[in-house]
Amino acid sequence: MLPLVRTAHDFRRACQEARLDGPLALVPTMGYLHEGHTSLIRAARQAAPTVAVTIFVNPAQFGPTEDLARYPRDLDGDLRKSEAAGASFVFAPAGPEEMYPAGFQSYVEPGPLAQPLCGARRPGHFRGVCTVVAKLFALSRAECAFFGEKDFQQLLVIRRMAQDLNLGTDVVGRPIVRERDGLALSSRNAYLSPEERQRALGLSRALSEARARFAAGERDVAALEGLAAEVLDRHGLRADYAELRDPIELQRPAQADESTRLLLAAFAGKTRLIDNGALGEGG
Ligand code: PAJ
Repeated sequence: MLPLVRTAHDFRRACQEARLDGPLALVPTMGYLHEGHTSLIRAARQAAPTVAVTIFVNPAQFGPTEDLARYPRDLDGDLRKSEAAGASFVFAPAGPEEMYPAGFQSYVEPGPLAQPLCGARRPGHFRGVCTVVAKLFALSRAECAFFGEKDFQQLLVIRRMAQDLNLGTDVVGRPIVRERDGLALSSRNAYLSPEERQRALGLSRALSEARARFAAGERDVAALEGLAAEVLDRHGLRADYAELRDPIELQRPAQADESTRLLLAAFAGKTRLIDNGALGEGG
């Protein structure tokens, strides 16, 4: 059985010991693992002899009306999947007070990269993400940490934070893993009714239709965003945003090019889903 550590103190110790054998790779998650997560664990295993997976539903990144209390959990399943994917051990804090003990009061405030898109719709979200990830980097002192492009803005925000604060952990991004029909894997897909699951395909369809329109020569930002919003609407999704941004600073470009990213967030019923991709990408 895969070693499981439950306190920050033991996590630091386990990482210290592991680093004696060579580089340590970190895969931070909130658990309820799927193929998207395990693809990160496998990539981490290629990069380092020891892979630490963390599983923590981080209260600091949830808003007061969000799904913290009902976020899906399955620690036994997660341990099995982590082991099969090549993890060396798992850190699953026994409770929130393990990461946020009484008296905790210091947070990491990200800058402009965290302001648009999810940052604008989920106040404080990236502050909570940065704070917990900075703590995990500090405890582990991992050489590298793996994150999915599924959360593209999160990846950029964390990479910027690690550089700005000289945390010494290299932030590696990995492609989105999808179901056969195009839906990006997400722990939150578990909330979807069969009918909502069908509607959720609107996100990947919006991406593919925008790409097709781009390939046919459309370069107008508002026209491509308008098309994406229309596809979401046609599938019965309520758009939260459908925006084109450059992939470095997340600014709105004057004109679309191959690297321009379409970033999407939409509600299927009460469930908020996100997706994104470059206009010039195939698939
Ligand atoms: P969570 O949503 O569990 O995701 C953990 C990691 O898995 C993130 O880097 C995310 O981008 C990646 N991931 C999720 N779905 C994916 C998919 N379909 N393909 C590829 N990668 C995917 O993101 C978080 O947790 C938290 O915010 C965290 C960074 C752990 C901080 O609490």
